Amino acid sequence: MTMKVTLNLNGKVVSADVEPRTLLVQLIRDHLGLTGTHVGCDTSQCGACVVHVNGQSVKSCSMLAVQAEGMVIKTIESLAATEVLHPMQQAFKDHHGLQCGFCTPGIIMSALNLVAINPSPSETEIREWLEGNLCRCTGYHNIVKAISAGAKAMKV
Ligand code: FES
Ligand code: FES
Repeated sequence: MTMKVTLNLNGKVVSADVEPRTLLVQLIRDHLGLTGTHVGCDTSQCGACVVHVNGQSVKSCSMLAVQAEGMVIKTIESLAATEVLHPMQQAFKDHHGLQCGFCTPGIIMSALNLVAINPSPSETEIREWLEGNLCRCTGYHNIVKAISAGAKAMKV
């Protein structure tokens, strides 16, 4: 059995027929072909799959695709509308906030939700906000610096 799900993905209304058990991250990656959202675990711990659902950062492996019916979903690809990097992406590049990059899309989407709520987060606030995002490479120090710099750049 499949069910039709229709949602707004990065500004476009899209539909797909999915099994009821299909996760939102599977819909995004496997049905709709946007592979910037990653899957790094099967326990909803890593945060590599974070997207925005109606403006809130959500682990897209922890939600069924059919629960996203009629919702506005933004993935990391939504930041790539032009050739110019988003200020948060540029900050990650400038401050070496990534190594392998596997965690980066989820961390950037989480960071953007933080900045939307708190435009000038402290280092402590950034570290607390990232508790749901794991990075196995960087040690987090440069990620925190990048988010702080990205938040400042977004205010300009
Ligand atoms: S894939 Fe790890 S939290 Fe979603
Ligand atoms: S940069 Fe490799 S997991 Fe974060």
